[in-house]
Amino acid sequence: MEEKERILQLRKLLHLYNYQYYVLNQPSVSDRDFDGLMHELQDLEAQHPELFDKNSPSQRVGSDLTTGFTQVVHKYPMLSLANTYNEQDVAGWYESVRKDLAGEPFEVCCELKYDGLSISLTYVDGQLVRGVTRGDGVQGDDVTANVRTIRAIPLVLPGTGYPKEFEIRGEILMPWQVFERLNAEREAAEEPLFANPRNAASGTLKSLDPQLVANRQLDAYLYSLLGEDLPTEKHYENLQEAHKWGFKISEGMRKASTLQEIYDFINRWDEARHQLPVATDGIVLKVNSLRQQRALGFTAKSPRWAIAYKFKAERVCTRLDEVTYQVGRTGAVTPVANMQPVQLAGTTVKRATLNNEDFIRSFDLHLGDYVYVEKGGEIIPKIVGVDVSRRTPDLQPIHFITHCPECGASLVRYEGEAAYYCPNDAGCPPQIKGRIEHFIARKAMNIDSIGPETVDDYFRRGLIRNIADLYTIDVQQINGDGSREKSARKIVNSIRASVEVPFERVLFALGIRFVGETSAKLLARHFKTLDALMVASIADLMEVEGVGEVIAESVIRYFHNEENLQIIERLRSYGLQMSLNADQLQGSTDKLAGKSIVISGVFERHSRDEYKAMIELNGGKNVGSISSKTSFILAGANMGPSKLQKAEKLGIALVDEETFLRMLE
Ligand code: IVH
Repeated sequence: MEEKERILQLRKLLHLYNYQYYVLNQPSVSDRDFDGLMHELQDLEAQHPELFDKNSPSQRVGSDLTTGFTQVVHKYPMLSLANTYNEQDVAGWYESVRKDLAGEPFEVCCELKYDGLSISLTYVDGQLVRGVTRGDGVQGDDVTANVRTIRAIPLVLPGTGYPKEFEIRGEILMPWQVFERLNAEREAAEEPLFANPRNAASGTLKSLDPQLVANRQLDAYLYSLLGEDLPTEKHYENLQEAHKWGFKISEGMRKASTLQEIYDFINRWDEARHQLPVATDGIVLKVNSLRQQRALGFTAKSPRWAIAYKFKAERVCTRLDEVTYQVGRTGAVTPVANMQPVQLAGTTVKRATLNNEDFIRSFDLHLGDYVYVEKGGEIIPKIVGVDVSRRTPDLQPIHFITHCPECGASLVRYEGEAAYYCPNDAGCPPQIKGRIEHFIARKAMNIDSIGPETVDDYFRRGLIRNIADLYTIDVQQINGDGSREKSARKIVNSIRASVEVPFERVLFALGIRFVGETSAKLLARHFKTLDALMVASIADLMEVEGVGEVIAESVIRYFHNEENLQIIERLRSYGLQMSLNADQLQGSTDKLAGKSIVISGVFERHSRDEYKAMIELNGGKNVGSISSKTSFILAGANMGPSKLQKAEKLGIALVDEETFLRMLE
């Protein structure tokens, strides 16, 4: 077979396998076979660049990044739905539809209301051409590059019979499982948690890094088909067709002909939704006939032919028995409510965070109070109120503790912060253990042979008091009673192996407050060595794009601490990477010193991240938006019109990638 034909055949096959796996949930080949075919396709495509196709299955992670998203005006505005919260309001809507249709019989399509963010997809000749967010309803962001990474969204329709051009709308979601894993990772890295999968999905889809989007494994359900020549005049039937073309549609869609059937649907899913892999926050009811939809029309904000019924946030009342206090790695003290165990939305709840002293005060909480606990869109149960009528006179108000429950130090509250802190960072066990756990974490030193229990064990046995001690423990010490020599050897080896971990991750692993993975990377690339970073002033630090006052001050504070300096010197003596490696340093010049450069458009020779790194490596600063201070714009293809206009207005030069690369030669 000719190579061209094989490429086309492989693309077809892989689209089909992808559809079977992600849309139908019925894989027909093993992951291994899938990967094998994908590699074959990638190899062939590399040999035949003339056959490039942006909708090839190999392009799920594209590199066509832009500095911002282009705005696209929706062909049909993206409206929202009016909400109802009880059966009475649903009945009210049903009656008004009946009245407006002058007694004509009608069917209602009942479907789940997915709790993610809405997306509008355009297909021409069965190929995905565009994905746009809702935005303000009139125009949204073109997020096609990110949408392409979502496996449940077909790039090329596997089915047949679709119109030449159509739009399909739906919801992009982050499955619970992915959400929980992501938040666990963020917690370990001390990054702020996403409150719910919706926020996480939204943050992900708006990322400028399609690789990150691909890793986050978003899902999509489609619920509305729009266009000139749709298969039928009925919403439900059209979606069934769309399912045959290759789309994942709302689960459990049903047609109802009576109000009772609608209530039955609502009641069934109010319970059953807890078994779904993604978040839902209600039910959507739509008049099924498109002709009747047109007759009913719209109000200013929403269609008259559809309505949302929102599930109630589940709420229970239980007794607050005790408040305990947790001390984190940074010393922040968090009060926790311990309550009489109670069933809520499928799980037993007995603890809920009380956040901080102000939160306790705002409810005037007393020990023994009956509190209302809710689990709404947020997965973590929240205390939302107190039943004051059940408060007996003997109950005492809760006073925040004044001393650390772990080490006894007097707590402090810094100006402008809601939390109390234990200032004894060098001697307070959870702070010490927390720092060590952070140090060994996957995104830090990745010492995966030990986990929190081992850290706890070594700490209790006095083997480690700080991160540097990890490098001096030996097999004999770990082995103790002599039964775990093999695992001890493995642990020691993996700790020793971590000396190869690159400087930027070492910097992150040190656990400098507010220095997350990204800022550690930025600081490492800018200063290149720990020695340079250690002597940097606040102003030097704030020169780094993305580093603000809070981070800068925290870095200064960290390097002013004698104990930290001793630990660093020990780590250095054990051979940890204290500067960028030769590869990273290679090509480092100050050719772009003092230059503020905006990257915009799509590039061919290198990815946007690579250009960013090149700018930094050559002493320049990559900035996000165009201003009079911008030195020039590294401009790729398809730069947005508003950017071009702004550049022209401010008289800022556009430099194409070839010229840019020549500048660095
Ligand atoms: S139909 C004219 N169906 O809920 C409005 N919307 O305010 C057409 N949503 O942000 C929307 N599941 O993204 C429809 N099965 C479903 C839905 C759904 C979730 C979202 C939608 C919009 C909001 C409605």
